[in-house]
Amino acid sequence: MCGIVGYIGKRDAYPILLKGLKRLEYRGYDSSGIALIDGFDLDITKKEGKVVRLEEAIHKKEGSIGIGHTRWATHGEPSDENAHPHVSNNNSLAIIHNGIIENYESLKIELKKKGYHFSSETDTEVLVNFIEDIQETESLSLEDAVRVALSKIVGAYAIAVISKEDSNKIVAARKGSPLVIGLGSGEYFLASDATPIVEYTNEVVYLNDGEIVVLTREGYSVKDSEDIQQTPYVQTLEMELEELEKGGYDHFMLKEIFEQPRSIADCMRGRLNTETGNLFLGGIRNYSKALQNAERILIAACGTSWHAGLVAEYFIEELCRIPVEVEYASEFRYRNPVIKEGDIVIAISQSGETADTLAAIEIAKERGAIVLGVVNTVGSSIARVTHEGAYLHAGPEIGVASTKAFTAQLTVLYMIALRVAFYKGTIAQNKYRELVTEIGKIPKKVAAALESNEKIKKISERFKDAHNFLYLGRGYNFPVALEGALKLKEISYIHAEGYPAAEMKHGPIALIDEQMPVVFIATRDGSYDKIVSNIQEVKARRGIVIAIVNEGDAIIPDMVDYTIEIPATHESLMPLVSVIPLQLLSYHIALMRGANVDQPRNLAKSVTVE
Ligand code: F6R
Repeated sequence: MCGIVGYIGKRDAYPILLKGLKRLEYRGYDSSGIALIDGFDLDITKKEGKVVRLEEAIHKKEGSIGIGHTRWATHGEPSDENAHPHVSNNNSLAIIHNGIIENYESLKIELKKKGYHFSSETDTEVLVNFIEDIQETESLSLEDAVRVALSKIVGAYAIAVISKEDSNKIVAARKGSPLVIGLGSGEYFLASDATPIVEYTNEVVYLNDGEIVVLTREGYSVKDSEDIQQTPYVQTLEMELEELEKGGYDHFMLKEIFEQPRSIADCMRGRLNTETGNLFLGGIRNYSKALQNAERILIAACGTSWHAGLVAEYFIEELCRIPVEVEYASEFRYRNPVIKEGDIVIAISQSGETADTLAAIEIAKERGAIVLGVVNTVGSSIARVTHEGAYLHAGPEIGVASTKAFTAQLTVLYMIALRVAFYKGTIAQNKYRELVTEIGKIPKKVAAALESNEKIKKISERFKDAHNFLYLGRGYNFPVALEGALKLKEISYIHAEGYPAAEMKHGPIALIDEQMPVVFIATRDGSYDKIVSNIQEVKARRGIVIAIVNEGDAIIPDMVDYTIEIPATHESLMPLVSVIPLQLLSYHIALMRGANVDQPRNLAKSVTVE
């Protein structure tokens, strides 16, 4: 939700900012803008639409200090006026902001009384003028004015401010929205995540909530909100530059779908030895006893991560015999959840920045729960506020639709479940070994599932103009049905719904006619015979059926219109394989409809507003 980037040093800032914005565009693409200081000139270019429009519009590119922003609109529609950076009334300060200032209305009224005028509908323009007002009335330095202003702000923010009166300073701060500082030699970078920085330096500092940083060409200084000097922890990034490129694929989404055999293997590497059965998850070692003794586990997540949580509910209950509740993080905080001291809460998040999930973690911690994170983005807020956690090691996921993060989340959660079950004694030795061996085969099975790509492309051609889709599955494949429907609707804008197949007769069956494509995830498991009956019920009403079946299925292909085969595995591991054709189906349909697969409308990769 909005990406911010900044540079101060000796090089031209413009190319660094522009490239940074392109890398951050997945966070929001309603508008973008850049502010540069050259001598005492402050130049701002901002444009509604994607970063390429900004690139076409920009004329003045000089200056070795600057800030840039790519926006996901909250206050005010996407337009040139509402695009960031915003400038203060005296034309001296420029600001970029990711987050929401909740008390901006009252501040705006006060500022208007003092004669301030506003040219946008944004909360951010209020903030920059508030800083200017404080700086002028109290004769403060920029960093002090920012600190005083932020102490009166309610809301979430990552901001960066520059002043044309001082071309050797960027002041930045965070609370609730992410901010990373890159440490170069005689040059400094800032960004919402490390992707714009990794090309220049691998030394970074993740700012903590409430911290304010001042960057000059000579050095940097971090203080807390009370103005007390902090000693920041400098982290070395392990991200590779090529992980941020499309690597020959047309879209990040396709690259990330095809990366899954590797990302799943990476996720297990160094943790699970499929030959000896040794399973070690260093990230949760301090709480492994608490996990074994837990009376229940709560899972909090959103979107695709929530679907991974639903699958985990099935296998944790089956293997560990611990009751599991899966919560939408967004709902969790607004009811009064029963959380007991010692309860385990698992927060699942690709970005590690989802505001709803962060809020759920806060509540759980306040009430004495142990909160474990299952997160992809290293150094992200969720990774830092949870007590312990296991990273996905799936590499950066840039396509807005989550794909490889889902399968990596399942893999990590499965390893956690196996380990707990083993030490708790709820799994027999031979069963444990069987499942460990089977999970070791998953990367190859996913690779085999990917071989259906061309066939799925042909099927997509047939359905690209559909208006509705139904996805049905039972047991472990029910959350996969939900995930398939979400993938289709978010990138192709076709209405799609996922249901447990048995629920169909309680309502959705009324939707079925000869126009309605119904995707059945009908792999061989405990409810195979039941799902065969459900398929017959759809066919009896002339629905069009696309079935995901296991290789060699001799029954379903004769009943349905289209079949996609995937390798068999243990039913608890099936979602890792059965989701693959659904990801590909949504990708191809969206592409054939001319949609922007990597940056679907109205969405952003990292949802940092509640
Ligand atoms: C769907 C998708 C979203 C995210 C959700 C949670 O493809 O990407 O539904 O899964 O916004 O995001 P994270 O996992 O970053 O917390």
